Amino acid sequence: MGYGEKSQTHHIDMNTPSVARMYDALLGGVNNYEVDRTACNDLLRIAPSTQLLARNNRAFLRRVVRILVQDYGIRQFLDHGSGLPTQDNVHEIAQRFHDNCRVAYVDNDPMVHAHGRSTLDENDNTRVIDADMRHTQEVFEATESFFDWKKPIAALFVSVLHCLPDRNDELAPEAMIGRVVNMLPAGSFIVMCQLVSDDPTVRNDVTQLMAQATGNTWGRVRTREEVRAYFGGLRVLEPHLVDVVDWRPDSAPPPPELRATDWVEWGGVARL
Ligand SMILES: C[S@@+](CC[C@H](N)C(=O)[O-])C[C@H]1O[C@@H](n2cnc3c(N)ncnc32)[C@H](O)[C@@H]1O
Repeated sequence: MGYGEKSQTHHIDMNTPSVARMYDALLGGVNNYEVDRTACNDLLRIAPSTQLLARNNRAFLRRVVRILVQDYGIRQFLDHGSGLPTQDNVHEIAQRFHDNCRVAYVDNDPMVHAHGRSTLDENDNTRVIDADMRHTQEVFEATESFFDWKKPIAALFVSVLHCLPDRNDELAPEAMIGRVVNMLPAGSFIVMCQLVSDDPTVRNDVTQLMAQATGNTWGRVRTREEVRAYFGGLRVLEPHLVDVVDWRPDSAPPPPELRATDWVEWGGVARL
């Protein structure tokens, strides 16, 4: 097992924080343990706006799914790093606007599978896949007969790229993105956002904290330029790459004094 790879033992480790359970704790969920909440408190000391970011990120996810269904006619979603079931899961949002939307959820956290199977895998139009999202071929095989690969698919990488470490091989985030772009039918979409900070202290301290907490299975807080590079060569929709609160907001986005200054979820949507 290489650096940044989680073992696929599928037992829930209650003594090591998990990103999925920490995110659940930040969103006010109940599928988390003391160890996750302690790690969240450590994180909040370095980056106090983390909870706000988690909520803003879910609001972005809701908007982007709704807009892809309503305005772009997307009916198929491949949600990489889907997280624990929460309020308004992707299929619930999408199926609110079109009954037949299909959603495949991919995550490698055993807790997501323990809870996800009953909540997310609830009808013929949803599927939960237990895989490392970087194993593109495995994800493709698991969804080959589930999706219509002649029709557009929206591949979601929402708040997940920072979970992936930099590498020089096929497991590098940019290598994975390239494979997914090549695999998707014409007219598909790719949605990507991740945690970025202009402050090198926040980048280093959070990265170190998460590496320690997760046994070196986390990635990195990156810069906007690094995220921009993930979109290299892709046709990015308006309003291009932004703090996700500014991505087609439903109401006036927050004024400067109500914005996070330590770090933000940053990204956008590209059409293939
Ligand atoms: C911060 S949560 C984001 C959840 C959801 N996408 C959202 O935006 O609300 C990140 C999720 O990615 C999952 N994850 C991290 N690395 C992964 C990998 N290599 N393969 C699959 N899932 C992964 C974690 O288990 C966690 O559930």
